[in-house]
Amino acid sequence: MKKEKTKFVCSSCGYESIRWLGKCPECDSWNTFAEEVVTKAEPVGRKSYSGDLNMGRLSKIESSTIKRFSSGIGELDRTLGGGFVPGSVILLGGEPGIGKSTILLQSLAALQKPSLYVTGEESLQQIKMRAERLGVTSDLITILAETDISKILAAIDQTDPQLFVIDSIQTVNNPELMSSPGTVSQIRESAYALMENAKKTNRTAVIIGHVTKEGSLAGPKILEHMVDTVLQFEGDSNNLFRIIRAVKNRFGSSNEIGVFEMQGSGLKEVLNPSGVFLNEDNRVNSGSCITAVFEGTRAILTEVQALVVPSYFGNPSRITSGFDQRKLSILLAVLEKRARINLSNKNVFINVSGGMRIDEPASDLPICLSIISSAHEKPLPPGTVVIGEVGLGGEIRGVSQIIARLKEAEKLGFTSAIIPKPNFAEAKGKTGLKIRAVATVEEAVQV
Ligand SMILES: Nc1ncnc2c1ncn2[C@@H]1O[C@H](COP(=O)(O)OP(=O)(O)OP(=O)(O)O)[C@@H](O)[C@H]1O
Ligand SMILES: [Mg+2]
Repeated sequence: MKKEKTKFVCSSCGYESIRWLGKCPECDSWNTFAEEVVTKAEPVGRKSYSGDLNMGRLSKIESSTIKRFSSGIGELDRTLGGGFVPGSVILLGGEPGIGKSTILLQSLAALQKPSLYVTGEESLQQIKMRAERLGVTSDLITILAETDISKILAAIDQTDPQLFVIDSIQTVNNPELMSSPGTVSQIRESAYALMENAKKTNRTAVIIGHVTKEGSLAGPKILEHMVDTVLQFEGDSNNLFRIIRAVKNRFGSSNEIGVFEMQGSGLKEVLNPSGVFLNEDNRVNSGSCITAVFEGTRAILTEVQALVVPSYFGNPSRITSGFDQRKLSILLAVLEKRARINLSNKNVFINVSGGMRIDEPASDLPICLSIISSAHEKPLPPGTVVIGEVGLGGEIRGVSQIIARLKEAEKLGFTSAIIPKPNFAEAKGKTGLKIRAVATVEEAVQV
């Protein structure tokens, strides 16, 4: 005997309610509630289980090494932690038009293994046209245009690929469920079925996920928990540079990034990312500061730019691109209190070049110095890289991996560095850079 009940689920965060709501109390998004029918079996008494259980003493479990296979694209391998792992599930998220379908098609062609590309958004002809534009020819790729999960699973079993791509999970649905495609229960069910298939047969699954206006992956958060690896495609589509970032990785370091350039013939790897984020002409402008951020396992040089202009209204603007706005407010407060620089009647704009997003504490000091440089219209000394975290007391704190950062700067022709005092002993004499160590923001301003 089965009971039928309806509930309303937020398609953005998965919040459940017994009645329809205009605004989700959990994630504050509007108009995201969709009705779903739940069929529940009548509760039966709990029976004790007497079969086999999949368990063993930790010390007795046989270990196995992860055997990976290359995606055929070096920068993608890097973000994956060295390549695709058989039996793992990867979620690739990113804004519309950023290049998700492109990179995966390019990877399938370079992979040299049987693969299946399931598209729910485009026709076979559209995929063919893209393949022709990218110059992709491979006998090992099968394309399926389908959204019904049971047909997709049948096709996977029939073609027996080493890797299958689902473009995108929001279009996949189970017609037996009452809810429409893209709803939380549809996404959860389909993802679960695909994951089960991948794990059982040791195939690799790559699932493409849409991204909401706010930039988070659409669909339930549970999807991110279920999969092994979450990759995020970043960079705005107006910009040529695209970054794939590993947000979560059960088989490698997270926060690793791969850098690409979008061209007519597809995404090309950028082998020297520091070069692209720097200003090509060597003019030194006021408000510009070069820093070395650490992404995963490598240091990358980036340029941060600040523009400080008088504000003629009561409420000055603080606008950032590629940097956290709240963090900027904190840094401005520190500058005011500890370095006596008052910007309360100034608009402050921050931009990180090349579409890069930085959220590492080591970029605090470069942001502060670029603001001061712009406010005083005095460029920083040329050939200088700045690294350091700023505490609320105005103290400059040490950062990790200082040597790798300095070496990257030296490689790109920099001659001096401003670094935190706590890192000085470690960094002294390790590179050819002239090093100036600073203990407080005030001291850094003087330097
Ligand atoms: N003829 C072309 N020449 C150059 N670049 C192109 C051309 N056609 C498409 N592109 C680039 O490819 C991008 C689209 O790539 P792709 O379809 O892989 O994105 P996507 O992330 O899969 O998008 P969606 O979310 O819509 O599926 C475009 O934004 C554009 O930058
Ligand atoms: Mg696409």
